[in-house]
This record gives sequence, C-alpha cells and structure tokens, in this order.
Amino acid sequence: MKIIVTKNYDEMSKVAADLMAEVIKNDPACVLGLATGDTPIGMYNELVAKYEAGEIDFAAVRSVNLDEYYPITPDNDQSYRYFMDKHLFDRVNIDKANTSVPDGTAKDVSKFCREYEAKIDELGGTDVQVLGIGRNGHIGFNEPDAELERFTHLVELTTDTIEANSRFFASEADVPKHALTMGIHSVFKARKILLLASGKGKAAAIRALVKSNITTACPATLLCLHPDVTVICDEDAYSLV
Ligand code: F6R
Repeated sequence: MKIIVTKNYDEMSKVAADLMAEVIKNDPACVLGLATGDTPIGMYNELVAKYEAGEIDFAAVRSVNLDEYYPITPDNDQSYRYFMDKHLFDRVNIDKANTSVPDGTAKDVSKFCREYEAKIDELGGTDVQVLGIGRNGHIGFNEPDAELERFTHLVELTTDTIEANSRFFASEADVPKHALTMGIHSVFKARKILLLASGKGKAAAIRALVKSNITTACPATLLCLHPDVTVICDEDAYSLV
C-alpha cells in the first residue's frame, strides 16, 4: 500500500485528479469506479478543470459507482445518481449511457444486485476504483461486521453512518436506512484502488487502515490484501498514524 500525505484537502484533490487523469490518458475507454460523499468533490472539480483545459476527454470513458441509497429516486437531490450528475457527469462529455450507479428504485433487489455485479464483470472490472472511508472504517457501504459480503448487495446502514450522513438531509429520520453497495470482492475487481481521506474526523480510520490487524471490524483494513492501493490523505487525516 502506497501512502501519500498531502498538506490539505486541496492538495489531496489535485494529487488524486492527476492519478485519475493518467488512467484516462493511458486508455480513453477506461472504466472508472467512482465514489460519492464530501471527500471526492474536490477531485471531481479538478477533473472538470482538466477536461475544460482539453487535457482529458471523457467521450469513451465508462464508469460504475460504488453505491446508492435504497430506496431513493434518481431525481432526489440526495441520491448518488444526482450527486454524480451534478459534480461530474453533467460537466464533462461523458456519455451517460456509459455510466452506472446502483438503482435505488430496483423492485427485485437480488436480481438487480446480480445484474450489477455482472455489469462490472462485463466491463472487465474497473481500471481504478476511488474510495472514501467512513469514520468507522467502512468502504462503500460495507459496514463493520463479523462477516463482509463479497458482491453487490443490500445493506442496512449503521446508526453511525446514518448520523454522519444526516447532515445532508432535513433530519436524521429522512436518511434512508438501507443502501445498495458493491461488496469487498466487487471492489477488489479494480486493478488499482485510490482511497482518499481528509480531516481529523478520519484520523482514527486511517490509523486503523495503516496500523491495525486485518479485521472485518474495520473493512478498510482488507485493502492491505489488494496489490495496488494508493491512499491519499491530508495531514489531519494522517495525524494519528
Ligand atoms: C460513498 C461511499 C462512502 C463514503 C464514506 C466517506 O460513495 O461509498 O463509503 O466514501 O462514507 O464519506 P465522506 O467523503 O462524505 O466523508
């Protein structure tokens, strides 16, 4: 695992965008595994700037997102589809038909999860998967548990995650209680993983990722087992290591 410690959030975002831009330049039809949340917003802004400067082209890029609340409609401004359109897809020349976000309206959830996993396989896995990290060490919505699921599945969110995400909703009661998420094996289908973290709130999780034993009690620790992981975190997130 490679660790890059940056001065602050802006530098973290720039370093991450540079690495993503390299992947796109190397293969204009690459498959990006994307994440939502506060952390990657700066990176998306940097990627849009690179696109506007003519440095990168999204015309042939394909993407798959890690997760989505369930149930939620795509036009809900808290849905991850809405987030991706707003922060990236509507600002670059990506073909929306080439973008996949788990369907928060799926009626038959098991069937949807099987199909989403098959889609990741059809794409040949992702060239790079962007991850944030939860305060409790979750990746995607793979929450700490005695066992972790391999593939895309429906998950019940922990109270910690509901509380952390309530800042985006009118009240905690409005936060969906479930989500669809790639599993650990789905994430591991990526050839390269970039995990981003910023701020003191992530310091304990980054310490666990870097120092603790591998444990499903902190799903991010499983990343030690992947051959190509780069952690880009700012000094605050690294402050307990
Ligand atoms: C989002 C996701 C989550 C977030 C994590 C950190 O697609 O999968 O695991 O990456 O909850 O969220 P932020 O970046 O808002 O601190």
